[in-house]
Amino acid sequence: MPTYTLTVNGRQAAVMADPSTPLLWVLRDDLKMTGTKYGCGIAACGACTVLVGGVASRSCVLPISLLGERPVVTIEAMATDPVGRRVQDAWVSTDVVQCGYCQSGQIMTAVALLRAVPKPTDAQIEQSMGGNICRCGTYVRIRQAIRNAAQFG
Ligand code: FES
Ligand code: FES
Repeated sequence: MPTYTLTVNGRQAAVMADPSTPLLWVLRDDLKMTGTKYGCGIAACGACTVLVGGVASRSCVLPISLLGERPVVTIEAMATDPVGRRVQDAWVSTDVVQCGYCQSGQIMTAVALLRAVPKPTDAQIEQSMGGNICRCGTYVRIRQAIRNAAQFG
């Protein structure tokens, strides 16, 4: 199996993997970073969202062989990321989480949005977050938390 060198949360890591292995499983199984979740495996739910080259991306459908030089940022780095910290604080103060399973992906998508558009409109929030599914139905609180995080940006 080939060896791939990745940059994840600012650190380099080398992993041996089949070229078709999705980034999600490299993160979870090889690098033991289990904050990124598996939901559907077909890019339909957003639970596995990470930043790839700064873009919110579905890690369940990104083969490791196609990652290239792009850096990966995961939920594990959000506590020390200025926007990530602000989003997580807003999540807590808005009491967003129910079961929590979808929330890593929700937060990573929200962080990508706020990095690109610090003061998003409701329509922009909806457009960015619309692909992230929450089986617990926390959508109203997620959107409120994004508005709250944007206020302090
Ligand atoms: S697990 Fe990747 S989008 Fe659902
Ligand atoms: S909080 Fe349970 S799936 Fe979103």
